[in-house]
Amino acid sequence: MKEKKYITTPIYYVNDVPHIGHAYTTIIADTLARFRRLQGYDTFFMTGTDEHGQKIEQAALVRNKTPQEYADEISGKFRSLWDEFEISYDHFIRTTDADHKLTVQNAFEKMQKNGDIYKGEYEGFYCVSCETFFTQTQLVDEECCPDCGRKTSIVKEESYFFKLSKYQDALIKWYEENERCIMPKGKKNEVISFVKGGLKDLSITRTSFDWGIKLPASSNDPKHVMYVWLDALLNYLTTLGYTRGDDKMEFWQDTTHIVGKDILRFHAIYWPAFLMSLNLPLPKHVAAHGWWTRDGEKMSKSKGNVVNPHEVASAYGLENFRYFLLREVPFGQDGDFSQKALIERINSELGNGLGNLLSRIIGMSSKYSEYKINSMQTAKFYEAELNEAHEYLKNAIENLENFATNRYLEEIWKVVALANGAVAKYEPWAMIKAGKSEEANTLVALCANLLAKIAVILSPAMPHTCDKIAQALGFEISTEIYNKIILQNELLNFIAKPTQPLFPRIETELMARPSEPEAALKEEPKDGCDESIITIDDFKKIVIKVGTVLECEKVEGSDKLLKFQIDLGEEKPRQILSGIAKFYDLSTLVGRQVCVLANLKERTMMKKYVSQGMILSAEDGSLSLLSTDAKVKNGSIVG
Ligand code: ME8
Ligand code: MG
Repeated sequence: MKEKKYITTPIYYVNDVPHIGHAYTTIIADTLARFRRLQGYDTFFMTGTDEHGQKIEQAALVRNKTPQEYADEISGKFRSLWDEFEISYDHFIRTTDADHKLTVQNAFEKMQKNGDIYKGEYEGFYCVSCETFFTQTQLVDEECCPDCGRKTSIVKEESYFFKLSKYQDALIKWYEENERCIMPKGKKNEVISFVKGGLKDLSITRTSFDWGIKLPASSNDPKHVMYVWLDALLNYLTTLGYTRGDDKMEFWQDTTHIVGKDILRFHAIYWPAFLMSLNLPLPKHVAAHGWWTRDGEKMSKSKGNVVNPHEVASAYGLENFRYFLLREVPFGQDGDFSQKALIERINSELGNGLGNLLSRIIGMSSKYSEYKINSMQTAKFYEAELNEAHEYLKNAIENLENFATNRYLEEIWKVVALANGAVAKYEPWAMIKAGKSEEANTLVALCANLLAKIAVILSPAMPHTCDKIAQALGFEISTEIYNKIILQNELLNFIAKPTQPLFPRIETELMARPSEPEAALKEEPKDGCDESIITIDDFKKIVIKVGTVLECEKVEGSDKLLKFQIDLGEEKPRQILSGIAKFYDLSTLVGRQVCVLANLKERTMMKKYVSQGMILSAEDGSLSLLSTDAKVKNGSIVG
């Protein structure tokens, strides 16, 4: 039976649309999965979305959506981007899937049986944006999250705890005995020193919001929901049918988690501890990459400089983009996206290097031998070149095994340079002039074989490009061919075909810069998170009015929604529902002026209440209603 490999990406939060960082992680994992399949492993590759937690609940509330509606929408965006990018995932998980709920509840019970869960009270600080607990000493600027810098909130609530401290020694032993369990090395050392600094037990349930998985019925404690990270990490087991008891759990024996450095702590500390508590084997590798910036600046929605992967791929080509991401940064280090760097790599390494090699081979074989390329004499004449290439290819594989995608590509490009260099050095045209056509053909065969090897080993990173190369040379990429020409260093004969240039030269930047208005105009219409530039005419379509709250009451059956009657200076007051119950005391709202989006299409909420507009508020983890500086006439227009 074939050996099994399991490869995962993080499951992305649905509070944001996909950007270059998500694309980077997913493309690394996809490349690795394709490489495993090429090697002949039975490979299972998953990705998905993380949909519970306070952050998602709040993001939905401010958009006047239910968390489920909102999660459906954004999860769909991730999935369709990965489909557009032909990401070869075998399963797309959503943490709102029914079987996932069972996994989480089942795991909770097991951990409890194992004596690892106890009830207590949590008192400390919580960053909603990172969904992370902190102690006061960990905070920066007195009250801010050390990871993202946002304001934390003080939490004091009943909570179940996981005995993380119990696993401190076992974790250290795991790190020490498994050299490549956390990659790269520098990151592993950070994890080790963090753990050696002492682990506190982890709060794993919350009571102050609802959007999460409830505890198992056996706990008989309905006010608690699972901490979103316990929920999220367990997705890796749900995917393999942990609760269904499928045979897919066999993939668990050889697991690689690809993550960004921001979430390494969860994967390298909490997760293995949970797994030990569940008596399951620990992952083979947790590999953490660095952070992307754009043109040297941190990406953020408010700056409007977030790189949209769909836009880059449409402008520059998906595989060129893949190549750039994998080649640009040493694994684990931060990287910068700029069109200049992307264009430079496309024109030089891809166009002048790889593309040129293919067109030379096709051109020479057409001129010298009617496209027939015979390798009979090649091993004899070019043993040194073939051996040198074989070394590079071995290095390429080793680097990919170590997630160093940049070095993997660099090694492959040494073979590109070797082949192009051989043409320059041996001058086949001079051989032809001197009547030595067989020698010329032998050289062409050297280059064609090197290119075939390149196409096979590069195919996980650039599948379509490599298929085109293989077609032009008349062979097909497969595990069998991989074994033959990469591992055994054998040669092939070819019958070549004319082909289109692979990498047309790019002369100018193809995407508008973020500061230019066209950048926004070119973008696709997106959801409420969209922060692209609009024209004044777009803005004129929006009617915001100031009005006074006449009445306000809780909506039965919801602990978030409030039902308002608001005087907007119109004939009748408007009824508006708003999900702000958690943030305001009812008694402070009546008589107060608020800003209302007045020309929003009417909608029915909770199946029976019509809501005729939207009350505007600002969100920064907490929530604050917008109002004017001084009292104004009801119905005054904001603009
Ligand atoms: O953390 N550069 O989800 P998330 C590089 N739901 N990578 C980036 C990036 C950037 N600028 N921005 C995001 C979560 N990423 C949890 C995960 S897993 C059980 C739960 C990538 O949507 C990178 O892989 O915040 C990072 O780890 C991940 O997106 C965080 O995604
Ligand atoms: Mg994040």
